Amino acid sequence: LGNGLAKTPQMGWNSWNFFGCNINEKVIKETADALISTGLAKLGYNYVNIDDCWSEPSRDSEGQLIPDPKTFPSGIKALADYVHSEGLKLGIYSDAGAFTCQKRPGSLQHEYDDAVLFASWGVDYLKYDNCFNLGIDPEERYPPMRDAINATGRTIFYSLCEWGVNDPALWAGKIGNSWRTTNDINDSWASMTEIVDINDKWAAYAGPGGWNDPDMLEVGNGGMTYQEYRAHFSIWALMKSPLLIGCDVRNMSAETFEILSNEEVIAVNQGRKIFAYGPDGCYQIWAGPLSGQRLVVALWNRCSKTATITAKWPSLGLESSISVSVRDLWKHEFVSQNSKSSFSARVDAHACEMYIFTPTMETHSAT
Ligand code: DGJ
Repeated sequence: LGNGLAKTPQMGWNSWNFFGCNINEKVIKETADALISTGLAKLGYNYVNIDDCWSEPSRDSEGQLIPDPKTFPSGIKALADYVHSEGLKLGIYSDAGAFTCQKRPGSLQHEYDDAVLFASWGVDYLKYDNCFNLGIDPEERYPPMRDAINATGRTIFYSLCEWGVNDPALWAGKIGNSWRTTNDINDSWASMTEIVDINDKWAAYAGPGGWNDPDMLEVGNGGMTYQEYRAHFSIWALMKSPLLIGCDVRNMSAETFEILSNEEVIAVNQGRKIFAYGPDGCYQIWAGPLSGQRLVVALWNRCSKTATITAKWPSLGLESSISVSVRDLWKHEFVSQNSKSSFSARVDAHACEMYIFTPTMETHSAT
C-alpha cells in the first residue's frame, strides 16, 4: 500500500500470543515501559499493538465503539498519549466482519465511523481480523477500511489479518501494508515450521510497502527450545516478516532477550529458501541479498540429528571463483576469511546457523 509506511517489515509487540483476552491498560503501559527499559525499542520494536478484547461487547447508543471501562478505564486516547510520550506508536485491532473473533463489535459497514474514531485517538496501526465475515469475499471486505483510513488524513499502518484466504499476496499489495499468509501460529515447532513453508511460497510478492505476514513471534512463550526459537527468529527475519514480539516483555528470560535483541539478525532484510537436500529435504539453505553484494545465508537443520550442511556457490548465485568472508550472526564473529566454492557447518538438530557472506575478491585462474 502506497501510504509511505512499511518501507521495512513492521516491528513491535502485540498482546495476543501471550495475554489473549487477559489485557488491560496497565499491561499495555508496562509493556511500553519495558520496550524502552530493555533497549528493544531502540532496536526498532516501536509498535505497541493491542489485539482483540479491548472493547465493550456492544456499541454505544450512537453506534460508536467503546473501550471496556473495567480494563481500559482511561480510554485509548490516553493510552496513545502515554505510548507516544515514550516515542512509541500505538496499534489497535478490529475485524472485517460483524464481530471480532472474541465477539466484540466488528467494523464491517462501520468502516468510516471506526476509522475516524481510531484516528481521533491517535492510533498508528490497525490489525484487521477476519471473523464473522458473513461469507463475503475478503477482496471486498478489506478495501473499504483502507479507504476509510485514508479519508481520515491520519497515516495508519494497515495490517490485514485475513488468514491467507484467497492467497492475499496476489491481491493485497494495493490494500494493506502487510497480509497474513497463514492461519494462526501456535507456540510449537510443528506450527512454526508449517507456517514457514506456506509463507515461503509468496516470497516474491513481498517488498517495501507490503509484506507477507506469517503471524507474530512466539519467542519466549515456552513451547519451543532455545534453538527452535532461534530458528523461528532467524527465519522470520530472513523472510522479511513482521517482527512482532508475542511474549511478556516485562518478564523475559536472558535467552529470550538475546534472541529478540540480535541486531545483526534484525538487520537482515530479505531472503528465502534456495536449496534443500537430505532426508525429506530437511537440510536447508535459506539466503537473500543484502546491500553491497553481501548475502544473508542460513543453514537450517530440520532433521532430528546433527548434520553437516554445505552451501555451494552456484546455488547461492555466486561464481565458483569468488572468495567469501563469512560472519556468524550468532557467534558474533568471522568464521572464515576466504571460503572458496562452498561453505559447510555442523548444525545441531533443529538449529539454524546464520551468516553474512561478503565476497572479498575474485581468484583469477592462470591464462
Ligand atoms: C485471529 C487472529 O489471527 C489472531 O492473531 C488474533 O488476533 C485472534 N483472532 C484474536 O481473536
